[in-house]
Amino acid sequence: MPLQGKYALVTGSSRGIGRGIALKLAERGVNVAVHYYTQAEAAKETLAQIQARGGKGAIIQADVTRPEDIHRMFDQIKREFGRLDIFVSNARPELAAFYRPPMDITLDQWNSAIDSQAQAFLLGTQVATSLMPDNSRIIAISYSPSGRTGSWQPWVAMGAAKAALDALTRYFAVALGRRGITVNVISPGATDDSVVGRLPTEVFQAIKAWHESGWTPMRRVGTPADIGNAVTLLCMDEASFITGQTIHVDGGASVMDPVFPLAIQQG
Ligand SMILES: NC(=O)c1ccc[n+]([C@@H]2O[C@H](COP(=O)([O-])OP(=O)(O)OC[C@H]3O[C@@H](n4cnc5c(N)ncnc54)[C@H](OP(=O)(O)O)[C@@H]3O)[C@@H](O)[C@H]2O)c1
Repeated sequence: MPLQGKYALVTGSSRGIGRGIALKLAERGVNVAVHYYTQAEAAKETLAQIQARGGKGAIIQADVTRPEDIHRMFDQIKREFGRLDIFVSNARPELAAFYRPPMDITLDQWNSAIDSQAQAFLLGTQVATSLMPDNSRIIAISYSPSGRTGSWQPWVAMGAAKAALDALTRYFAVALGRRGITVNVISPGATDDSVVGRLPTEVFQAIKAWHESGWTPMRRVGTPADIGNAVTLLCMDEASFITGQTIHVDGGASVMDPVFPLAIQQG
């Protein structure tokens, strides 16, 4: 679809990857609802950057773990935009809300992960589609490797939540195929200017060095703009036959084989 004049909601677009997605859509003339949870100033800054690119938008607050907030969020979209062409489910709680290994995690932490990803996407998609014309776009931002691996122990709840999110996109892709609405997952690799960039400097540097050493074939971590570009591609008319897919936007990191040391594989 030509993107000029379309209406998008990007959850968690006050900062990080969500902001990168909002800005890339705005550069194509999409009106973007900037959603935040607590950081109103950050949301205003995203909107200011949209406007600096000649775009238009709105700001919406909601806790996506709360069903009533999700309904309120889409009520506001209906009032301000009248319809929705692109729904990007990107928001994710702060690490403190869910980051705990499997033997210690509490039910509240588990629920925070599941509710913010699986429940928010289930309900968000059900409600969003009532505002969407045929041939609209729905995109979930996941971290798909965490749904099939088990090594990153404190990520257990989010890994399970992302696995459920990935599964939901496939089921919704089938349910909405008749309307030409595509439903896909974008799975970023480690991305700068996001939660990863806010880790202690030495941790962030170690992550960067790991990827630059070759575990990401493109030898760099991603940027929010990389993810925004991928979302923009999926929103274009030329992507209208791509649905139910997971697209890894990670510079090739997901095709690396962790069984053998890099030096042996590349020797
Ligand atoms: N960062 C990475 O390297 C990476 C890699 C793979 C996948 N991802 C995925 O990409 C997405 C964005 O990650 P990020 O690192 O860019 O995030 P981030 O910078 O930590 O930003 C999180 C966003 O979610 C919002 N949020 C937090 N709790 C919320 C809640 N309860 N309800 C509604 N919104 C809430 C925040 O709003 P406030 O600003 O108001 O707090 C903020 O806009 C996530 O789904 C993540 O799993 C990230």
